[in-house]
This record gives sequence, structure tokens and C-alpha cells, in this order.
Amino acid sequence: MANTILVGAQWGDEGKGKIIDVLTETADVVVRTQGGNNAGHTVYLGPKKYVLHLIPSGILRKGKMCIIGNGVVVDPIGLVAEIDTLKKQGVTVKDLFISESAHLVLPYHRELDSQREILKGKNKIGTTKRGIGPAYGDKAARTGLRMIDLINPERFEGLLRAKIKENNEILKAFGAKPLSFAKIHAEYREAGRRLKPFVTNTVVLLHKATSRGADILFEGAQGTFLDIDHGSYPFVTSSNTTAGGACTGSGVAPNKMDRVMGVMKAYTTRVGEGPLPTENAEIADMLHAMGREFGATTGRARRCGWFDAVATRYSAIINGIDELAVTNLDGLDTLDTIKVCIGYRAGSAKLDYVPADIEVLAMCQPIYAEFPGWKTDTSKCRKWKQLPPKARSYLKAIAELTGAKLKIASVGPAREQTIFV
Ligand code: GDP
Ligand code: IMO
Ligand code: MG
Repeated sequence: MANTILVGAQWGDEGKGKIIDVLTETADVVVRTQGGNNAGHTVYLGPKKYVLHLIPSGILRKGKMCIIGNGVVVDPIGLVAEIDTLKKQGVTVKDLFISESAHLVLPYHRELDSQREILKGKNKIGTTKRGIGPAYGDKAARTGLRMIDLINPERFEGLLRAKIKENNEILKAFGAKPLSFAKIHAEYREAGRRLKPFVTNTVVLLHKATSRGADILFEGAQGTFLDIDHGSYPFVTSSNTTAGGACTGSGVAPNKMDRVMGVMKAYTTRVGEGPLPTENAEIADMLHAMGREFGATTGRARRCGWFDAVATRYSAIINGIDELAVTNLDGLDTLDTIKVCIGYRAGSAKLDYVPADIEVLAMCQPIYAEFPGWKTDTSKCRKWKQLPPKARSYLKAIAELTGAKLKIASVGPAREQTIFV
């Protein structure tokens, strides 16, 4: 399969979990390289539903090495809970390796995340309140705690005490309740004890894996337009969700990467605040009425809209997308006409890229092309030729507009609802 970076080409929740699960069949190692438990990657195995937040989705296939890389921010309590939930669902977590350099998400990060959102009022980001922004903030400020500290009880106690003291002052200024060192220390010491067997130098592990020719799959979290550098700042997450993040977040060099796969829905969704040029209430109502497009992490209803080819083309450039996996094609099965955004109008200007200025993006009006709907159930199609001709034309058109090769079309959440083109 070669070393593959898989990224979300839109605003997250593109169906990365499902595609990772499909591709893992021929991979040896699956690595998360950024984000934290703000991610929610859904995989169905038969009727059983699994939602992965920190653990690579590859854990659901036996014998695959799963790595949480240095670029991830780890909530130790969340991770222990995820391991326990998987166990209850019949999945034993054993081939898991966590980078000793990965930064920790601690209770004051979650509390600060909430307090900052309250303070922003109507300008809030709509975060997952998992403490992601403040944890990456500490990392960049060089004041963070890492996995290596957590598994070293004596060192952890002193570092945690100082951090809670400092953050209680900040929380006091917000008018929030101070945190109790004793309670947090006891909980995190126990989580550290549980996680210690998994903690190691993952750079060395990955280097050995590449040296023996293992196939590595880099599991992106979030999506291109949530990238801290390239997304619709400030309505973004706090990590590099684009392809470059796979290298920095794992320690695997760019010249070891063989291909980049972009995952995108056949339409657009976004959860949280910020501009979404093709947002459309009718599409949202239709998908929500089908019971679809509710967040895997927070349960929030996702905002929905038409496919935005201006956005995905920009995404293809930033990520160097070679191949595309288009998911949720079946979501459009009942429509008479399907719109695709092929340009933005911003005042008198016409744009064919996503503007960095959030105020300009917010005023962008989509220019649409229309495609005839296929009005046929695609969820039972298993081969390219079985898809209705109009569905094939639509898929080819959105891949061409994006500027990458169509490789996979997905017509349902299950493994077998996957068409290799
Ligand atoms: P991720 O964060 O990118 O892994 O995506 P999520 O798991 O948050 O959300 C994608 C949702 O779409 C999940 O509920 C998946 O089970 C579902 N899904 C993925 N591909 C398809 C598809 O082709 N058709 C349908 N109906 N659902 C899909
Ligand atoms: P997966 O990996 C969709 C969004 C939040 C919010 C913004 C910042 O499942 O695709 P954060 O908690 O990261 O500070 O929130 O980013 N967000 C996601 N949206 N999918 C995700 O992950 C997301 N992770 C964060 O809704 O708008
Ligand atoms: Mg998700």
C-alpha cells in the first residue's frame, strides 16, 4: 500500500474513520499525528458502531501496530476511558504505542477552553470543549506537560502542582472555580499507571518500520479548513490538520511519504461556528431527517451545504492530494438537481480560491453549476459500473474540479459499501 497520508479535504467528519478502516486491511501501521479527542472517527463492523477519538482506527483490525504520535495532545483520562470502552465492545487494545513526547490535556485546559468560549459570547468558535486550544497553547509556550512527565510520578507531582497553582489564578480572573490539586493528582497518577506500558519513543519505532518496508497509514484528524495555518482562522482547531502535520507529528520525513489521499463528502458539512459559503438549510433538513450528520464527539447537528469545489481545489493544493475518496454519495440519492460551487463572488470580485480574510470569506456568494440527480438508491452498489451513469458523472466532475484522481466512492458506512474506481 506504501506510506499514505490520509487527510480530511473539507471541514472535518468527511468519513476518514471509515476509509482508514478500509485501507488498514493492507497497512501494517496506523498513526495519529495531530489533534486530540476532539476527533470522532466512526467505524461500523456489521451492526456494531465504534467511535475512535484518540486511538487510531486501525485498532479494529487484528495485528496492526497503532501509534499515537508526538503531535497529538493526549487527554489521559479520555484515553483510558476509550481503552475501557473498546474492551467492553470486545476489542483488546494491545498493539498501541504512545509517543513519550506527546503533550497532555489536563483539566485546566478543558476549563479554560470553556471559559474562553463563554467570554467570546456570540463570537465563540464552537469548540468541542476538550481543551485542545489551551493544550496546544501550552505546548507552543513551552509550558506544557508531556507523556514522559505523566509516567514519571515524582516529576509529575511537582510539575502538576505548579501548573494548577498558575492556572487557578487565571481561572479566578475568569470568575471560575479553582481546581483541586489532590483530586486531579490522584486521578492522573492512576491514568499514568495504566498508560505507562504503552509509552515509548515512537520515532524510533516508525523508523524501524519504514526500514523494514512496512506500509504506514497516517490517520488525519479534523479537516483542511480547520488547520491552524490554512483554515478559516480563528474558526479552526489548534493543529496542522493538513498533510505536513503528518511529518511533524510523527517524525517520519517527507521523503518517506508515497501518496496523499484526501477524503471528502459528496456534499459539505461543518460543525462549530465560522463561514460556510455553500451552507443550505434544505440539504441540512433532508440529511438530519435521515438521522445523519450529527457529530460523533459532541452530538451537535452538523451544518450542511452543497459540495464546494473552490474549497476542495484549495485543499488539493495545500495537501498535495494524489487520490480522492468521496464518501456519503448515497446522501444525494433522492435529489432532482445537485449544485456544486465552482467559484465565489465577493462583491464585484470573482475568486477561485478560499480567501484568508474571514470577513471576505463570510461575504462570498457561491457560483453554482448544476448536475442532474440520479434518483436511485446507490447504497447497494459495489462496483463502479453498478452506479447510475449520472452518479458516475457527478463523481468524475467533483474529482476533476478538485484536481485529483478519484480512487474510492463510498455509498454507506459499512466496509462493503466501498467502490474502488
Ligand atoms: P470522520 O471524523 O472523518 O471519521 O467522520 P465521522 O465518523 O465523524 O462522520 C462521518 C459519518 O458518515 C459517520 O457516521 C460514518 O459512519 C458515516 N459515513 C462514512 N461514509 C459514509 C457513506 O458513504 N455513506 C453513509 N451513509 N455514511 C457514511
Ligand atoms: P474529526 O477528526 C469536525 C471543530 C470544532 C470547532 C473547531 C475547534 O472527527 O473530523 P476544537 O475543539 O478543536 O478547539 O474546536 O474545530 N472540530 C471538528 N469538526 N470534525 C472534527 O474532527 C473536529 N475537531 C474539531 O467543532 O468548530
Ligand atoms: Mg468526526
